[in-house]
Amino acid sequence: MKIVVLAGGTSTERDVSIVSGTGICGALRQKGHQAILVDVFCGQEEVDWEDPFPAEYDVEKAAAYIRRFNLQMAELKKTRKNFFGPNVIDLCKKADFVFLGLHGANGEDGKLQGAFDLMGIPYTGTGYLSSAMAMDKGVTKAMFQMRGVPTPAGKAMKKKDRVETPQELGMDFPVVVKTCCGGSSIGVYIVDNQEDYTKALDGAFTYENEVVVEEFVEGVEYTVAVVDGKAYPVVQIVPVQGFYDYENKYKPGAVKETCPAPISEELTKRLQEAAVDGYHALEMESYARLDFIVTKDEKIYCLEANTLPGMTPTSLIPQEAAVLGMDYPTLCEELIKVSQK
Ligand code: DAL
Ligand code: MG
Repeated sequence: MKIVVLAGGTSTERDVSIVSGTGICGALRQKGHQAILVDVFCGQEEVDWEDPFPAEYDVEKAAAYIRRFNLQMAELKKTRKNFFGPNVIDLCKKADFVFLGLHGANGEDGKLQGAFDLMGIPYTGTGYLSSAMAMDKGVTKAMFQMRGVPTPAGKAMKKKDRVETPQELGMDFPVVVKTCCGGSSIGVYIVDNQEDYTKALDGAFTYENEVVVEEFVEGVEYTVAVVDGKAYPVVQIVPVQGFYDYENKYKPGAVKETCPAPISEELTKRLQEAAVDGYHALEMESYARLDFIVTKDEKIYCLEANTLPGMTPTSLIPQEAAVLGMDYPTLCEELIKVSQK
């Protein structure tokens, strides 16, 4: 198959996306596909499907190749109206399939999915509506509450309706303040006093116009992928220090990820069922990864759903697939397969 792997973009998770995209592209080539890596925002002037760059799967080389656009991008962002870089749409139309290695705004939030639907371009992952709902943590919470998926109590708040204390929102410290549409824990603050709460709101509102304030649930993080409506094995995530923030997410060895999670069969089953429920609550198709907190007394809370979750070779879904005996290149093909239905 001719596959365009779209990565990069303009979100706060641009760099993570480049690593995901590079991994996916290399894996698909290993499987014999003609895959090319394209930075969705910077585009590509010339493409030779027969001689794609890089010839071998090499994260360092490919990331460097794309990163050279980063500086140029900051400038382009000020003036460019069209999100799609030169030749991107043409290339996507010529491909048999587009693998979305994008994360965050303008990639994972449904806009691109809607545009591709209109242009008849097939892509991996769920559609525009579920993407948009999952990207917005306020809407996700409302859907979870409405459809009986356990989630921490909380409320979304617009900048213009800023509420200065959590008590006025019916909550008490500690609380979590997070941007509505962020990813990789950028713009997430756990606070236990008024001064830090005010600072957290200031900080979160520098990223976005809407934030979510929710009760802080103490516990251990778990994540579960749902592929084609079925749950994969559960991963347990324990930060060696602090919480599972941006630094810990991407610093090798900063967290201990264990799959299958060392928990009872009963808890595993409950997490997998909650993941499937969350997937349906947000009307998802193809695949997604749902993140959870489990308290000491084994109460489950779903924090969020990721419709284009991290797909570097060592990311969470590849770890789950490995437990099922599926290697990374086979998983990448599987994600295309379930997206073709
Ligand atoms: N938002 C990151 C990429 C993830 O969910 O894996
Ligand atoms: Mg996320």
